[in-house]
Amino acid sequence: MSEQVLAPPQLVNVQINGVWHQFPKGTRLIEACEKVGSYVPRYCYHKKLSSPGNCRMCLIEMGLPKMGPERKPELGADGMPVINWMPRPQISCAQDVSEGMGVRTDSPLAQECRKGVMEFLLINHPLDCPICDQAGECRLQEFSVEYGYAESRFLENKVKKPKNIELGPRVTLDDERCILCSRCVRFCQEIAHDDVLGFIDRGSHSVLTAHPGKRLENNYSLNTVDICPVGALTSSDFRFQMRVWFLKETKSFCTSCATGCNTIIGTREDVIYRQTPRENDAVNSSWMCDYGRLNFGYLQSDQRLLQPQILSGEKLIAADWNATIAQAVVQLKHFSGWEIALLASGRMTNEELWLTSQFAKTLGANLIEIVPRRGPGDDILLSPDRNPNTNGARVLGITSEPGARLGEIVEGVASGRIKALIALGENPINAGLSLDQIKALPAFIVMDILANEATQLATAVLPAFGFAESAAR
Ligand code: SF4
Ligand code: SF4
Ligand code: FES
Repeated sequence: MSEQVLAPPQLVNVQINGVWHQFPKGTRLIEACEKVGSYVPRYCYHKKLSSPGNCRMCLIEMGLPKMGPERKPELGADGMPVINWMPRPQISCAQDVSEGMGVRTDSPLAQECRKGVMEFLLINHPLDCPICDQAGECRLQEFSVEYGYAESRFLENKVKKPKNIELGPRVTLDDERCILCSRCVRFCQEIAHDDVLGFIDRGSHSVLTAHPGKRLENNYSLNTVDICPVGALTSSDFRFQMRVWFLKETKSFCTSCATGCNTIIGTREDVIYRQTPRENDAVNSSWMCDYGRLNFGYLQSDQRLLQPQILSGEKLIAADWNATIAQAVVQLKHFSGWEIALLASGRMTNEELWLTSQFAKTLGANLIEIVPRRGPGDDILLSPDRNPNTNGARVLGITSEPGARLGEIVEGVASGRIKALIALGENPINAGLSLDQIKALPAFIVMDILANEATQLATAVLPAFGFAESAAR
């Protein structure tokens, strides 16, 4: 079959602030300006959503080629089209570049327009930046400094609007701060497919609200908080927990399902305060689900295993790493090949899975399996496979069909043929074993993040890292 060659995208010439550039046809004007270093401020525009053009913050001066008598563009001394500038400003977020277009993003008219828009937006906005949870990442605050007037000319009383509204179980709304950009409304309609938000009332009394009888409770609700350009929508979980400028941001991945959404983890002094999505168009676009986003509290659980332990007489006692590893080795030395089984985990990284396979090889053990973890998925991001790395386990030969060999392990333990069980990041109860069966094992070695009901029956316990605590993750 002959290889198909894509035609290069058609390029158009556009003059931005006096300099000609080329962009592929279809490029949004606001994006074209940003690409060449002329950032145009915006509130309602979000590149992953439709463009209603309702905030007017992106006003620029624009012109189209001046046409000669033969309806052909007149060319200037530089051989490029002469631009016929429009007398009124235009928004740059709702139109694409076209041949011979001219743009001025920083002309006196554009600057005056921005100042005017800022002044209007701030008329009824409360002056509560010092106590607002968005401070530090608020577009209104930032653009006010960059493009606004230093003083307010508004002497009248501000319109008071509802505060501290629970829009849903995870999102809180301060209507006074809302600038009616509709990003959250469009996100719910276009991405979450849950038409739940809208505006009611007119003019300066307009407010954002949930439709009657509805709540913002879909599994993607916290993305509205990410894209709200001001402090109107806040995460009920993160709200007032930490000033954002204290957070250390680390690039990571969500490990709560097989999708692997790219994330940024916000920490302070080794405690996670929030996870937010990191853009990756090949995986999660700019979004992540609430379930994965909030699934980190267990790292601070009082059930964390923090200390290696070994069985002494009838009970587990604290020991150091060397002694615990040595004890586990002694226990395993009593058994060979078919007497040993390993429960691995689809939550392990490729590196951990590879080490596990090498460990099994060293022990001569061939009975090894991961524990499947399933839940309802959706057609947006959430995968029904709640293990992040089932594929890695498959590729590394630890499983062929997740869970397929668990029956063999349960049967082997029940019959007494398996004498040593090594549980790596998995609770054997979830694999189908009973506490009595586990208790009867001569060696039960546990390596895990949290204690579970089976841990107390272990003969050696090794604490493990959580997903955010190791550089390999
Ligand atoms: S709550 Fe935020 S995202 Fe929603 S319309 Fe208001 S300002 Fe825009
Ligand atoms: S879709 Fe999956 S990977 Fe993405 S945030 Fe949700 S649980 Fe995490
Ligand atoms: S960003 Fe263009 S009108 Fe809002």
